[in-house]
Amino acid sequence: MRRRQFLGSLAAVGLHPGLSFAQPSSIRLIAAAHRQQILPVGYPDTEMWSFGASFPGTALRARQGDRLGVTVENQLPQPTSVHWHGLRLENAMDGVPGLTQAPIGEGASFDYEFALPDAGTYWYHSHAKSMEQIERGLYGPLIIDETDPPDVDQDITLMIDDIRLEQDGSLSAFDNFHDLSHAGRIGNLWVANGQIDPAYPVKRGERVRLRLINAANARVFTVGMQGFDGSIVALDGMPLKDPQVLPEELILAPAQRVDLIVDVTTDDEEAFLITFERDGGYAIAHFPVSGPSKATRSERPLLPPNPDFPIDLANARTATLLIEGGAMGGMRAARVDGQELGARELAGRGLFWALNGVAGRPETPLLDLSLGESARIGMANNTAFPHGMHLHGMHFSEVLADGSLGPLRDTILLNPQETREIAFQAHNPGNWLFHCHMLAHHQGGMGTWIRVSA
Ligand code: C2O
Ligand code: CU
Repeated sequence: MRRRQFLGSLAAVGLHPGLSFAQPSSIRLIAAAHRQQILPVGYPDTEMWSFGASFPGTALRARQGDRLGVTVENQLPQPTSVHWHGLRLENAMDGVPGLTQAPIGEGASFDYEFALPDAGTYWYHSHAKSMEQIERGLYGPLIIDETDPPDVDQDITLMIDDIRLEQDGSLSAFDNFHDLSHAGRIGNLWVANGQIDPAYPVKRGERVRLRLINAANARVFTVGMQGFDGSIVALDGMPLKDPQVLPEELILAPAQRVDLIVDVTTDDEEAFLITFERDGGYAIAHFPVSGPSKATRSERPLLPPNPDFPIDLANARTATLLIEGGAMGGMRAARVDGQELGARELAGRGLFWALNGVAGRPETPLLDLSLGESARIGMANNTAFPHGMHLHGMHFSEVLADGSLGPLRDTILLNPQETREIAFQAHNPGNWLFHCHMLAHHQGGMGTWIRVSA
């Protein structure tokens, strides 16, 4: 059929080519083992666990205001679940075994379906035995497009990670007490979208939206862009009211995201995403640059805001969170299921960290809030290690030294001996996990929760 005839026949039955039907699109996501080359060519490949037979998993993309339906089928040799990191979704879909759902057993499946009120850069990952399952590859990007997206030439998502592999391609063993009690599982190889230093061709003068997602188990990345100029337009999915000029160094704690809108300004043949290490900078990804020099766009990029839930600092309920444990400082004792245990007994159970003297998720929430109430949590990191604290279901702002509120985030980094305060409006009812996203720390006891009652 020629194009004109085809359009003619559509018109005849009254269908519009852009018509979409009302059912939420349901995606089938199979969690299973697959093999992928991760080490350089010439080395053996690696058995990964993944969503959709690729590492990272199937890229999920939807439009703000739509609903997303995903049926997760578990073909792994362990129970699993999926958490939609950063989405302010309904609690029953949050994917936390023992808090919002039962784990998805071997051979079983679970239907996730939820509304998408916010645009932005998110990710999804296993939330069962996550120190092992995320390291094995059970994560993927989740991009929610603005109804009116900014004008860019390319939109590139880079999930950066470090994984710990052996020479034979296998993942190093997981039962490692050193990881649990120190910084967590730090890798020996960094990858972007599952590859060592992948290439993303760009043209001179092009405007690129870059979405960086730190999917690492425990590694705090310090990254920089070389060959680009531009700005940070969003953090952890949420648009900044005032985009910041792209700094030389950007710190990304595990689970944090940053959206950049940058122009290709270099005259060189290549531009880079660099990780700054103790001994210098290394490319995590590179961008072959082609085309003649070209003027860049002059308009300043800005993302439309997501729904806002203002924080009432003056009338907020308050809580404090004391972070203790780990090697080089440690803790003498902590409560587990209401019972006081000494360090030796705790270690015997794989517990090395405590929040307010409790190791592991407590029976009662850190805060019991009514819908619409504001809360502030002062946190003190009394340990020798950095921690990236993540709140499910709601974004928070940091209360800055001058009393003003920082940008919205869902994960905040606390360096050793640092104190920080966060505040949020309890706008989303349910039981929400609040934990360290250094996954060995969460497994080793660093998790609590917050209840919001409707
Ligand atoms: Cu990204 Cu509780 O997780
Ligand atoms: Cu931690």
